[in-house]
Amino acid sequence: MSGAIRHFLDLDRFEPQALRSLIDAARDGKQHPGFRPDRPLAGKMLAMIFEKPSTRTRVSFEVAMRQLGGEVVTLNAADMQLGRGETVADTARVLSRYVDAIMLRTNSADTLHSMADNATIPVINGLTDRSHPCQVMADVLTVEENKGPIASRRIAWCGDGSNNLAASWIHAAVRFGFDLTVACPDGLRPRPGLTDWASAEGGRVRVDTDPERAVAGADCVVTDTWISMNQEDARNRHNLLRPYQVDERLMALAATDAVFLHCLPAHRGQEVSAGIIDGSQSVVWDEAENRVHAQKAILLWSLGA
Ligand code: CP
Ligand code: NVA
Repeated sequence: MSGAIRHFLDLDRFEPQALRSLIDAARDGKQHPGFRPDRPLAGKMLAMIFEKPSTRTRVSFEVAMRQLGGEVVTLNAADMQLGRGETVADTARVLSRYVDAIMLRTNSADTLHSMADNATIPVINGLTDRSHPCQVMADVLTVEENKGPIASRRIAWCGDGSNNLAASWIHAAVRFGFDLTVACPDGLRPRPGLTDWASAEGGRVRVDTDPERAVAGADCVVTDTWISMNQEDARNRHNLLRPYQVDERLMALAATDAVFLHCLPAHRGQEVSAGIIDGSQSVVWDEAENRVHAQKAILLWSLGA
């Protein structure tokens, strides 16, 4: 039903060349930041639906849409009839009559897929419990700005290997062809289906409980919050993840010119020390800016402009 619709759901659904084209478009677009005088998305409207909080995703999508000449309507799911039990399918059908694309941040990947299956317009994944692909596109752009082609690079993820962003990094490692080591405690490993998929696709993805071994010689060290939105069990997670904090001692094991990435929001003193995130190897502010550039490329592709 939705075969020809250009949904942006997860990177594993794309051919490598399609993702490469999006990164190249994002990098080219960044050369001409700000409002595009030719307004390629004039007359187009994006609905953004949030079931969870957001600063970067919300603002960067709105900025991207407006700078391309389009418009946005922002919705909190709790204020919609969705919050009173209207189905995702009916919401998708109705919104498809009003707007040109939907960006959804949701608690459940099932909700995203139900929206995409029932919408007759493109649906963009703005984060689920399972993945955060728009973030990783900005991250790939950021790595390449600092380190050149990512395919020849070694990336170390340190922290919760089971979370949404780690999953999207695994998808990216396979599709962009770089080495990824996920350093995480045994209890917070990526789900087996994901690592099995990476192996079957010939990806160079390794899971290691030893953060020092994972980071040694890496070109880029990445982390994320220890407690993702809607997760509980904070005390246990803190205990498990303390050895994976990216601090000066751990970062010193990476390549001397390694960069540090964090999608933000950050918790200094937990997943990263203040000295690292605020230090000279950190590229987190470029990374946050790159959300706008990556999403411009995604919006132009999804809307066929
Ligand atoms: N990195 C990211 O997605 O940030 P927000 O939760 O603020 O959107
Ligand atoms: N893993 C984090 C990402 C936040 C952008 C979360 O889901 O809360």
